[in-house]
Amino acid sequence: MKLKLHENIQFIYELALAQKELQALGVEFEPTSDMRGFISKNSIDPELIKRRAAYFESIDGEFSDYYYIQKYNQTGSVNQYLTHWIYPYKGKFHPQMIRSLLNIIRAAPGDVILDPFVGSGTTAIETQLLGIDCAAIDISPLCVLISKVKTESIEVLGQILEYGHSVAPSTRNVLQSNSFAKIPLEEIQSEKVRNFYKMAEMIALSDESRRRKDFSNSYHLNIEKMTKSIADFKAVRERFGLQLGKVKVEQGDAKELSLPNESIDGIITSPPYSIALNYVANDAHALKALGYDLNSIKEDFIGVRGTGLNKFRLYNTDMSKCFKEMYRVLKPSKFCIIVIGNVTYQNEEVNTTGITIDSCKKAGFEFLEKVDKIIFGLYNVMQREYILFLQKP
Ligand SMILES: C[S@@+](CC[C@H](N)C(=O)[O-])C[C@H]1O[C@@H](n2cnc3c(N)ncnc32)[C@H](O)[C@@H]1O
Repeated sequence: MKLKLHENIQFIYELALAQKELQALGVEFEPTSDMRGFISKNSIDPELIKRRAAYFESIDGEFSDYYYIQKYNQTGSVNQYLTHWIYPYKGKFHPQMIRSLLNIIRAAPGDVILDPFVGSGTTAIETQLLGIDCAAIDISPLCVLISKVKTESIEVLGQILEYGHSVAPSTRNVLQSNSFAKIPLEEIQSEKVRNFYKMAEMIALSDESRRRKDFSNSYHLNIEKMTKSIADFKAVRERFGLQLGKVKVEQGDAKELSLPNESIDGIITSPPYSIALNYVANDAHALKALGYDLNSIKEDFIGVRGTGLNKFRLYNTDMSKCFKEMYRVLKPSKFCIIVIGNVTYQNEEVNTTGITIDSCKKAGFEFLEKVDKIIFGLYNVMQREYILFLQKP
Protein backbone atom coordinates (compact mmCIF):
# COMPACT_ATOMS: atom_id res chain seq x y z
CA MET A 1 0.00 0.00 0.00
CA LYS A 2 1.37 3.41 -0.99
CA LEU A 3 0.99 6.42 1.32
CA LYS A 4 1.66 9.68 -0.47
CA LEU A 5 2.67 12.82 1.47
CA HIS A 6 0.81 16.10 0.91
CA GLU A 7 2.37 18.34 -1.74
CA ASN A 8 2.84 21.16 0.80
CA ILE A 9 5.22 19.18 3.01
CA GLN A 10 8.66 20.72 2.81
CA PHE A 11 10.29 20.62 6.26
CA ILE A 12 12.23 17.89 8.03
CA TYR A 13 10.09 18.21 11.16
CA GLU A 14 7.00 17.48 9.06
CA LEU A 15 8.63 14.32 7.74
CA ALA A 16 9.54 13.33 11.31
CA LEU A 17 5.95 13.87 12.47
CA ALA A 18 4.56 12.05 9.41
CA GLN A 19 6.61 8.96 10.36
CA LYS A 20 5.56 9.15 14.00
CA GLU A 21 1.98 9.48 12.86
CA LEU A 22 2.23 6.30 10.78
CA GLN A 23 3.82 4.41 13.69
CA ALA A 24 1.00 5.51 15.99
CA LEU A 25 -1.56 4.38 13.41
CA GLY A 26 0.08 0.94 13.41
CA VAL A 27 1.86 1.11 10.04
CA GLU A 28 5.26 -0.50 9.45
CA PHE A 29 6.82 1.30 6.51
CA GLU A 30 9.76 2.20 4.34
CA PRO A 31 10.22 5.44 2.36
CA THR A 32 9.68 5.52 -1.39
CA SER A 33 12.75 6.38 -3.49
CA ASP A 34 11.44 9.90 -4.28
CA MET A 35 10.96 10.55 -0.50
CA ARG A 36 7.42 11.83 -1.18
CA GLY A 37 5.76 8.89 0.49
CA PHE A 38 5.98 5.50 2.17
CA ILE A 39 5.14 1.88 1.36
CA SER A 40 3.46 -0.08 4.14
CA LYS A 41 5.06 -3.42 4.99
CA ASN A 42 2.23 -4.85 7.08
CA SER A 43 -1.48 -5.19 6.46
CA ILE A 44 -3.32 -2.09 7.65
CA ASP A 45 -6.82 -0.68 7.68
CA PRO A 46 -6.74 1.92 4.86
CA GLU A 47 -10.00 3.46 6.13
CA LEU A 48 -8.41 4.39 9.47
CA ILE A 49 -5.48 6.10 7.75
CA LYS A 50 -7.79 7.86 5.31
CA ARG A 51 -9.97 9.17 8.13
CA ARG A 52 -7.27 10.31 10.55
CA ALA A 53 -3.97 11.04 8.77
CA ALA A 54 -2.71 14.63 8.70
CA TYR A 55 0.37 14.47 6.51
CA PHE A 56 -0.88 12.01 3.89
CA GLU A 57 -2.68 13.14 0.80
CA SER A 58 -3.64 9.71 -0.52
CA ILE A 59 -3.59 6.02 0.31
CA ASP A 60 -3.21 3.82 -2.78
CA GLY A 61 -4.47 6.70 -4.89
CA GLU A 62 -7.55 7.43 -2.75
CA PHE A 63 -7.55 10.87 -1.15
CA SER A 64 -7.58 11.20 2.64
CA ASP A 65 -10.38 13.11 4.44
CA TYR A 66 -7.89 15.80 5.40
CA TYR A 67 -6.97 16.35 1.74
CA TYR A 68 -10.60 17.36 1.11
CA ILE A 69 -11.09 19.20 4.43
CA GLN A 70 -8.24 21.61 3.62
CA LYS A 71 -10.05 22.56 0.41
CA TYR A 72 -12.96 24.07 2.37
CA ASN A 73 -11.05 27.28 2.56
CA GLN A 74 -12.22 30.89 2.13
CA THR A 75 -8.66 32.25 2.16
CA GLY A 76 -5.65 31.99 -0.11
CA SER A 77 -3.60 30.31 2.59
CA VAL A 78 -3.56 26.51 2.70
CA ASN A 79 -3.61 26.20 6.51
CA GLN A 80 -6.39 28.72 7.12
CA TYR A 81 -9.21 26.36 6.13
CA LEU A 82 -12.68 26.22 7.75
CA THR A 83 -12.76 28.73 10.64
CA HIS A 84 -9.00 28.69 11.34
CA TRP A 85 -8.45 32.06 9.61
CA ILE A 86 -10.80 33.99 11.91
CA TYR A 87 -8.88 36.84 13.56
CA PRO A 88 -5.26 37.71 12.67
CA TYR A 89 -3.76 36.21 15.83
CA LYS A 90 0.04 36.12 16.09
CA GLY A 91 1.73 32.82 16.86
CA LYS A 92 -0.99 30.41 15.72
CA PHE A 93 -0.22 26.72 15.54
CA HIS A 94 -0.06 25.06 12.15
CA PRO A 95 -3.34 23.05 12.23
CA GLN A 96 -1.92 20.12 10.25
CA MET A 97 0.73 19.68 12.95
CA ILE A 98 -1.94 19.52 15.66
CA ARG A 99 -3.94 16.89 13.77
CA SER A 100 -0.78 14.78 13.48
CA LEU A 101 0.14 15.28 17.16
CA LEU A 102 -3.36 14.11 18.13
CA ASN A 103 -2.67 10.95 16.13
CA ILE A 104 0.80 10.56 17.61
CA ILE A 105 -0.51 10.62 21.21
CA ARG A 106 -3.26 8.22 20.10
CA ALA A 107 -6.08 10.53 21.19
CA ALA A 108 -9.44 8.85 20.57
CA PRO A 109 -13.10 9.93 20.58
CA GLY A 110 -14.25 10.25 24.19
CA ASP A 111 -10.82 11.52 25.33
CA VAL A 112 -10.42 15.04 26.66
CA ILE A 113 -7.40 16.98 25.40
CA LEU A 114 -6.34 20.08 27.28
CA ASP A 115 -4.78 23.20 25.80
CA PRO A 116 -4.25 25.58 28.75
CA PHE A 117 -2.85 28.32 26.41
CA VAL A 118 -5.36 27.83 23.61
CA GLY A 119 -4.85 31.27 22.00
CA SER A 120 -6.83 31.44 18.79
CA GLY A 121 -8.29 27.94 19.25
CA THR A 122 -6.28 25.81 16.79
CA THR A 123 -6.15 22.79 19.11
CA ALA A 124 -9.87 23.11 19.80
CA ILE A 125 -10.86 22.98 16.10
CA GLU A 126 -8.59 20.05 15.34
CA THR A 127 -9.84 17.96 18.29
CA GLN A 128 -13.40 18.80 17.29
CA LEU A 129 -12.81 17.51 13.74
CA LEU A 130 -11.47 14.19 15.05
CA GLY A 131 -14.41 13.72 17.44
CA ILE A 132 -12.18 14.29 20.49
CA ASP A 133 -13.28 16.55 23.36
CA CYS A 134 -11.27 19.62 24.31
CA ALA A 135 -10.76 21.73 27.43
CA ALA A 136 -9.69 25.03 25.89
CA ILE A 137 -8.36 27.62 28.33
CA ASP A 138 -6.74 31.03 27.94
CA ILE A 139 -6.30 34.04 30.20
CA SER A 140 -7.18 36.44 27.39
CA PRO A 141 -10.88 37.27 26.97
CA LEU A 142 -10.14 37.96 23.29
CA CYS A 143 -8.78 34.40 22.85
CA VAL A 144 -11.84 33.01 24.60
CA LEU A 145 -14.05 34.90 22.17
CA ILE A 146 -12.03 33.80 19.11
CA SER A 147 -12.00 30.13 20.20
CA LYS A 148 -15.73 30.14 20.96
CA VAL A 149 -16.67 31.71 17.63
CA LYS A 150 -14.52 29.26 15.66
CA THR A 151 -15.93 26.15 17.35
CA GLU A 152 -19.48 27.12 18.41
CA SER A 153 -20.89 29.20 15.54
CA ILE A 154 -21.76 26.04 13.60
CA GLU A 155 -24.54 25.46 16.19
CA VAL A 156 -26.24 28.77 15.30
CA LEU A 157 -25.60 29.02 11.56
CA GLY A 158 -29.35 29.21 10.83
CA GLN A 159 -29.78 32.29 13.07
CA ILE A 160 -26.65 33.93 11.66
CA LEU A 161 -28.04 33.50 8.14
CA GLU A 162 -31.33 35.10 9.25
CA TYR A 163 -29.65 38.14 10.86
CA GLY A 164 -27.27 38.47 7.90
CA HIS A 165 -25.91 42.02 7.73
CA SER A 166 -28.62 43.58 9.89
CA VAL A 167 -26.68 43.73 13.18
CA ALA A 168 -25.01 47.00 14.17
CA PRO A 169 -21.45 46.96 15.52
CA SER A 170 -21.38 48.08 19.15
CA THR A 171 -18.33 50.35 18.97
CA ARG A 172 -19.77 52.71 16.33
CA ASN A 173 -22.45 55.34 16.59
CA VAL A 174 -24.97 53.69 14.31
CA LEU A 175 -27.34 56.66 14.31
CA GLN A 176 -24.73 58.74 12.51
CA SER A 177 -24.04 56.13 9.90
CA ASN A 178 -26.16 54.73 7.12
CA SER A 179 -23.82 51.85 6.42
CA PHE A 180 -24.96 49.79 9.39
CA ALA A 181 -28.33 48.22 9.93
CA LYS A 182 -29.96 49.02 13.22
CA ILE A 183 -30.38 45.84 15.28
CA PRO A 184 -28.29 46.50 18.42
CA LEU A 185 -26.03 43.63 19.42
CA GLU A 186 -27.47 43.53 22.96
CA GLU A 187 -30.92 42.72 21.57
CA ILE A 188 -29.73 39.36 20.25
CA GLN A 189 -30.73 36.60 22.68
CA SER A 190 -28.18 33.94 21.78
CA GLU A 191 -24.67 34.47 23.21
CA LYS A 192 -23.20 32.43 20.35
CA VAL A 193 -24.79 34.70 17.75
CA ARG A 194 -23.68 37.82 19.66
CA ASN A 195 -20.13 36.42 19.76
CA PHE A 196 -20.19 35.93 16.00
CA TYR A 197 -20.99 39.61 15.37
CA LYS A 198 -18.56 40.81 18.05
CA MET A 199 -15.84 38.85 16.27
CA ALA A 200 -16.67 40.36 12.86
CA GLU A 201 -16.30 43.73 14.59
CA MET A 202 -12.98 42.83 16.24
CA ILE A 203 -11.48 41.78 12.89
CA ALA A 204 -12.74 45.03 11.34
CA LEU A 205 -11.12 47.01 14.17
CA SER A 206 -7.86 45.17 13.60
CA ASP A 207 -8.07 45.79 9.84
CA GLU A 208 -8.73 49.47 10.49
CA SER A 209 -5.95 50.02 13.02
CA ARG A 210 -3.27 47.77 11.51
CA ARG A 211 -4.05 47.86 7.80
CA ARG A 212 -5.89 51.18 7.45
CA LYS A 213 -8.91 49.53 5.90
CA ASP A 214 -12.40 51.02 5.97
CA PHE A 215 -14.18 49.73 9.10
CA SER A 216 -17.65 49.43 7.61
CA ASN A 217 -16.48 47.61 4.49
CA SER A 218 -14.37 45.23 6.53
CA TYR A 219 -17.21 44.53 8.99
CA HIS A 220 -19.55 43.47 6.20
CA LEU A 221 -16.88 41.47 4.36
CA ASN A 222 -16.06 39.63 7.58
CA ILE A 223 -19.70 38.72 8.17
CA GLU A 224 -19.79 37.34 4.63
CA LYS A 225 -16.56 35.37 4.85
CA MET A 226 -17.18 34.08 8.39
CA THR A 227 -20.65 32.87 7.40
CA LYS A 228 -19.22 31.01 4.41
CA SER A 229 -16.52 29.41 6.58
CA ILE A 230 -19.08 28.22 9.10
CA ALA A 231 -21.21 26.82 6.28
CA ASP A 232 -18.04 25.02 5.09
CA PHE A 233 -17.61 23.52 8.58
CA LYS A 234 -21.16 22.23 8.43
CA ALA A 235 -20.62 20.84 4.92
CA VAL A 236 -17.49 18.99 6.10
CA ARG A 237 -19.37 17.57 9.08
CA GLU A 238 -22.09 16.28 6.79
CA ARG A 239 -19.85 15.03 3.98
CA PHE A 240 -17.68 12.91 6.28
CA GLY A 241 -20.43 12.06 8.80
CA LEU A 242 -18.33 13.57 11.61
CA GLN A 243 -19.45 13.38 15.22
CA LEU A 244 -17.75 16.60 16.34
CA GLY A 245 -15.88 16.57 19.64
CA LYS A 246 -17.26 18.70 22.49
CA VAL A 247 -15.24 21.85 23.11
CA LYS A 248 -15.40 23.73 26.41
CA VAL A 249 -13.76 27.14 26.08
CA GLU A 250 -13.09 28.95 29.34
CA GLN A 251 -11.23 31.99 30.51
CA GLY A 252 -8.74 30.75 33.08
CA ASP A 253 -5.23 30.94 34.45
CA ALA A 254 -2.91 28.05 33.55
CA LYS A 255 -1.20 28.57 36.94
CA GLU A 256 -4.40 27.46 38.70
CA LEU A 257 -6.46 25.15 36.51
CA SER A 258 -10.02 24.56 37.62
CA LEU A 259 -9.89 20.90 36.58
CA PRO A 260 -9.90 17.80 38.80
CA ASN A 261 -6.75 15.70 39.35
CA GLU A 262 -6.04 13.11 36.64
CA SER A 263 -9.04 14.09 34.49
CA ILE A 264 -7.21 14.80 31.20
CA ASP A 265 -6.16 12.30 28.50
CA GLY A 266 -3.52 14.43 26.78
CA ILE A 267 -2.09 17.94 26.61
CA ILE A 268 -1.06 19.78 23.45
CA THR A 269 -0.07 23.37 23.99
CA SER A 270 2.22 26.26 23.31
CA PRO A 271 2.79 28.68 26.19
CA PRO A 272 4.06 32.24 25.66
CA TYR A 273 7.66 31.97 24.37
CA SER A 274 9.18 33.61 27.41
CA ILE A 275 8.98 37.36 26.87
CA ALA A 276 8.89 37.22 23.05
CA LEU A 277 5.43 38.63 22.51
CA ASN A 278 3.39 40.94 24.73
CA TYR A 279 -0.09 39.48 24.24
CA VAL A 280 -1.72 42.42 26.04
CA ALA A 281 -0.03 45.17 23.99
CA ASN A 282 -0.39 43.20 20.76
CA ASP A 283 -4.18 42.92 21.07
CA ALA A 284 -4.67 46.17 23.01
CA HIS A 285 -7.19 47.70 20.59
CA ALA A 286 -9.42 44.59 20.67
CA LEU A 287 -9.19 44.09 24.45
CA LYS A 288 -10.10 47.76 25.02
CA ALA A 289 -13.01 47.52 22.59
CA LEU A 290 -14.27 44.49 24.52
CA GLY A 291 -14.32 46.74 27.60
CA TYR A 292 -11.21 45.51 29.48
CA ASP A 293 -8.81 47.64 31.47
CA LEU A 294 -5.38 46.60 30.18
CA ASN A 295 -3.56 47.42 33.41
CA SER A 296 -5.76 45.26 35.55
CA ILE A 297 -5.77 42.21 33.25
CA LYS A 298 -2.08 42.24 32.40
CA GLU A 299 -1.02 41.02 35.87
CA ASP A 300 -2.22 37.50 35.10
CA PHE A 301 -0.60 37.21 31.65
CA ILE A 302 2.62 35.18 31.63
CA GLY A 303 5.71 36.85 30.13
CA VAL A 304 4.34 40.37 30.44
CA ARG A 305 5.06 41.36 34.06
CA GLY A 306 8.30 43.02 35.24
CA THR A 307 11.22 44.56 33.37
CA GLY A 308 14.72 43.48 32.30
CA LEU A 309 16.04 40.24 33.75
CA ASN A 310 13.30 40.19 36.37
CA LYS A 311 10.83 39.59 33.55
CA PHE A 312 12.59 36.27 32.80
CA ARG A 313 12.58 35.30 36.50
CA LEU A 314 8.86 35.98 36.80
CA TYR A 315 8.23 34.03 33.57
CA ASN A 316 10.15 30.99 34.85
CA THR A 317 8.37 31.02 38.23
CA ASP A 318 4.95 31.34 36.57
CA MET A 319 5.68 28.57 34.07
CA SER A 320 6.86 26.15 36.74
CA LYS A 321 3.44 26.60 38.43
CA CYS A 322 1.74 25.85 35.09
CA PHE A 323 3.76 22.65 34.53
CA LYS A 324 2.83 21.42 38.03
CA GLU A 325 -0.80 22.05 37.23
CA MET A 326 -0.55 20.30 33.86
CA TYR A 327 1.04 17.32 35.62
CA ARG A 328 -1.68 17.28 38.29
CA VAL A 329 -4.61 17.18 35.85
CA LEU A 330 -3.10 14.64 33.40
CA LYS A 331 -3.88 10.94 33.81
CA PRO A 332 -0.88 8.64 34.47
CA SER A 333 0.93 7.30 31.36
CA LYS A 334 -0.60 10.03 29.17
CA PHE A 335 1.36 12.46 26.98
CA CYS A 336 2.00 16.17 27.15
CA ILE A 337 3.30 18.00 24.09
CA ILE A 338 4.73 21.48 24.42
CA VAL A 339 5.79 23.69 21.53
CA ILE A 340 8.27 26.30 22.72
CA GLY A 341 10.95 28.57 21.23
CA ASN A 342 14.14 30.24 22.41
CA VAL A 343 14.02 34.04 22.45
CA THR A 344 16.90 36.34 21.66
CA TYR A 345 17.50 38.99 24.34
CA GLN A 346 20.21 41.64 23.91
CA ASN A 347 21.65 39.62 21.01
CA GLU A 348 21.90 36.42 23.03
CA GLU A 349 19.78 33.32 22.69
CA VAL A 350 17.98 32.48 25.94
CA ASN A 351 17.59 28.74 26.44
CA THR A 352 13.85 28.83 27.21
CA THR A 353 13.57 25.29 25.83
CA GLY A 354 16.16 23.85 28.23
CA ILE A 355 14.58 25.67 31.17
CA THR A 356 11.16 24.32 30.12
CA ILE A 357 12.44 20.73 29.99
CA ASP A 358 14.05 21.05 33.45
CA SER A 359 10.96 22.64 34.90
CA CYS A 360 8.72 19.88 33.45
CA LYS A 361 11.00 17.20 34.89
CA LYS A 362 10.80 18.89 38.30
CA ALA A 363 7.01 18.81 38.03
CA GLY A 364 7.27 15.00 37.57
CA PHE A 365 7.16 14.55 33.79
CA GLU A 366 9.43 12.18 31.95
CA PHE A 367 11.10 13.92 29.00
CA LEU A 368 10.98 11.65 25.93
CA GLU A 369 12.42 13.67 23.04
CA LYS A 370 12.35 16.93 21.13
CA VAL A 371 11.81 17.65 17.44
CA ASP A 372 13.39 20.80 15.95
CA LYS A 373 11.22 23.17 14.02
CA ILE A 374 12.39 26.28 12.18
CA ILE A 375 10.48 29.55 12.44
CA PHE A 376 9.86 32.02 9.68
CA GLY A 377 9.24 35.71 10.03
CA LEU A 378 10.34 36.38 13.63
CA TYR A 379 14.12 36.32 13.05
CA ASN A 380 14.81 39.34 15.24
CA VAL A 381 13.36 37.77 18.40
CA MET A 382 13.62 34.06 17.75
CA GLN A 383 15.02 31.51 15.31
CA ARG A 384 14.26 28.09 16.65
CA GLU A 385 11.38 26.30 18.24
CA TYR A 386 10.93 22.75 19.42
CA ILE A 387 8.20 20.21 19.89
CA LEU A 388 8.78 18.60 23.30
CA PHE A 389 7.35 15.13 23.98
CA LEU A 390 6.72 14.44 27.68
CA GLN A 391 4.89 11.73 29.55
CA LYS A 392 3.41 11.39 33.02
CA PRO A 393 4.89 8.18 34.47
C1 LIG B 1 1.75 31.01 21.98
S1 LIG B 1 0.15 31.60 22.37
C2 LIG B 1 -0.85 30.23 21.98
C3 LIG B 1 -1.26 30.21 20.53
C4 LIG B 1 -2.11 29.01 20.15
N1 LIG B 1 -1.32 27.79 20.14
C5 LIG B 1 -2.79 29.19 18.80
O1 LIG B 1 -2.77 28.30 17.95
O2 LIG B 1 -3.41 30.26 18.59
C6 LIG B 1 0.16 31.67 24.12
C7 LIG B 1 -1.14 32.05 24.81
O3 LIG B 1 -0.95 32.02 26.22
C8 LIG B 1 -1.93 32.89 26.79
N2 LIG B 1 -1.60 33.14 28.21
C9 LIG B 1 -0.73 34.00 28.76
N3 LIG B 1 -0.73 33.91 30.12
C10 LIG B 1 -1.64 32.94 30.43
C11 LIG B 1 -2.10 32.38 31.67
N4 LIG B 1 -1.66 32.80 32.85
N5 LIG B 1 -3.03 31.38 31.62
C12 LIG B 1 -3.54 30.96 30.41
N6 LIG B 1 -3.17 31.49 29.23
C13 LIG B 1 -2.22 32.45 29.22
C14 LIG B 1 -1.88 34.10 25.88
O4 LIG B 1 -3.07 34.85 25.97
C15 LIG B 1 -1.69 33.44 24.50
O5 LIG B 1 -2.93 33.30 23.86
